[in-house]
Order: sequence, then C-alpha cells, then structure tokens
Amino acid sequence: MARITAGVGSSHVPLLGVAVDQGKSNDDYFGPIFAGYEWTRQWEKEQKPDVIILVYNDHASAFDMKIVPTFAIGCGESYKPADEGWGPRQVPDVEGHPDLAWHIAQSLILDEFDMTIINEMDVDHGLTVPLSMMFGQPEAWPAKIIPLAVNVVTYPVPSGNRCWALGEAIKRAVESFPEDLNVQIWGTGGMSHQLQGKRAGLLNREWDNKFLDMLIGDTDAARWIPHIEYLRETGSEGIEMVMWLIMRGALGEKTRLLHRHYHIPCSNTAIGHIVLEPVEEETVPA
Ligand SMILES: [Fe+2]
Repeated sequence: MARITAGVGSSHVPLLGVAVDQGKSNDDYFGPIFAGYEWTRQWEKEQKPDVIILVYNDHASAFDMKIVPTFAIGCGESYKPADEGWGPRQVPDVEGHPDLAWHIAQSLILDEFDMTIINEMDVDHGLTVPLSMMFGQPEAWPAKIIPLAVNVVTYPVPSGNRCWALGEAIKRAVESFPEDLNVQIWGTGGMSHQLQGKRAGLLNREWDNKFLDMLIGDTDAARWIPHIEYLRETGSEGIEMVMWLIMRGALGEKTRLLHRHYHIPCSNTAIGHIVLEPVEEETVPA
C-alpha cells in the first residue's frame, strides 16, 4: 500500500526562485539560505519519493476573487508554471498522479472534507519554488506531484485545527491506496512576513522557532493556535503557516526531526525549513 514516509516544510519566497533561475544561489546573500537546504537535496536523492502531496497556496495565478476554494486538490495529468508577470519560470512542467489524486479526493470527500477538484490549472511560485529548493534544476522533476491548494490569501482562511484534521484524513486516504508508493507530504509558505501596511517587514525569529518546535514530537499544540496569534506575531502573511499543519497532521501522532534550518531575512521574509519523519508506535506482542 502507499505510505507517507516523510514531511517537509519550507518557505516559498519568490525571490528564491529568481536566485535559482539567475544562478545566484551561491552568492553572499543567498548562499547561507541555500546551504540550509543542501542536506535535504542529498536526502531526497536517497529517498526517491514516488509522489509528493504538495500543500501550497496560489497567489492570484490560477484563482482570483472570482473563485476562492478553501481546499482544492489537483487531479490533472500535468500543470504548467504560471506567468506571474515576468513570463513563466523556466522550470519543468509538473507531472501529476491522477489515480492517487482522485483516490485521495474520493476518500477526503467521503470523510466529510468538501474538496474542490481541479483538473486544469497553472502553478505559481508557491509550488515551484519549494521544488527548486529541494531538487535544484533537474530536466524533469523527480517525483509526481499532487498539488493541494489552500486559501490563505483572502479571509476567512481555514483554522489550524481544520488543517491538521485534513492532514489526518490525507494519511488515511494514502494508506488505503493499494499500490506501493513512497509518498511525501510538503507544507509550504511562511514564515513570519508582512508585505504591506505600517508593520511591513515584520519578522519574528522567536515565534517562528517556537512554531518549528511545535511540529516535532507528540505535541499537537500548534493546531490550536488562533488566527489572531499568527496575525499579531507573524504579520499578515504569516498565516500561510497553517499549511504546514496539514503536513504535520498527515504524519500521525509523533514525529522525529531529521533536519531544520532558519534564516533571516530573505527579501522581507523569514526562511524556515524542516524535515520530519513519522514515528510509528511499536506494537507490543501480546
Ligand atoms: Fe506566499
């Protein structure tokens, strides 16, 4: 059967995509940021995931105010990089996994999560920047991707608890798919940042690291963080971090930390990155 073998969290700052695309990832500014992903790039080569459920948010590329799905799952064959104003990024198309995606959609909807099903869309930096951070510049992305888009752009956004519960339902969905597949789940976005208004440029190293701490081990304290705390402590765009809770919820009750990285600033955003694996409780023979 299919299994979720690991969870990855990462910021998706568009400037990181520019750094990769323009060959600047080793310069004085970007070098320390990308160095923190080197461990993961090597690890991914060994892990060879078949499929990645990539939890991300769209930034008015595929969706705009005409339609705002709270949770949407990509069931298509493939997705092209979106044109975000400067032409599409010159990165490979994203290949989907329709069989697993439709299975997850069915399982989630019967599990009472009312997903929007997307068969055609372009994917923006929210999805392609994490791929570049974890895989560099390959000719083709080395795994199939199931995009899972979350509305964190327009209020009301889903609660942390709902995101965590969706992750738990995704775990059940994946584990009921009969094919042997090595599946990872990524949660992206964040960390602290505010792009406009009087508090533009707000960063909060202490809170961000407290949030990373809460993803490790058997605590589920992060699922109860209210929206107002994200807004107050991490700025208006820090709410993207609820997407990491879908990843965390899908790893089960307990996780083990494999890798962690934090850097301030990148553009006007804090960079956070974490790699976790689920810890299965040992069954004691009767
Ligand atoms: Fe974003």
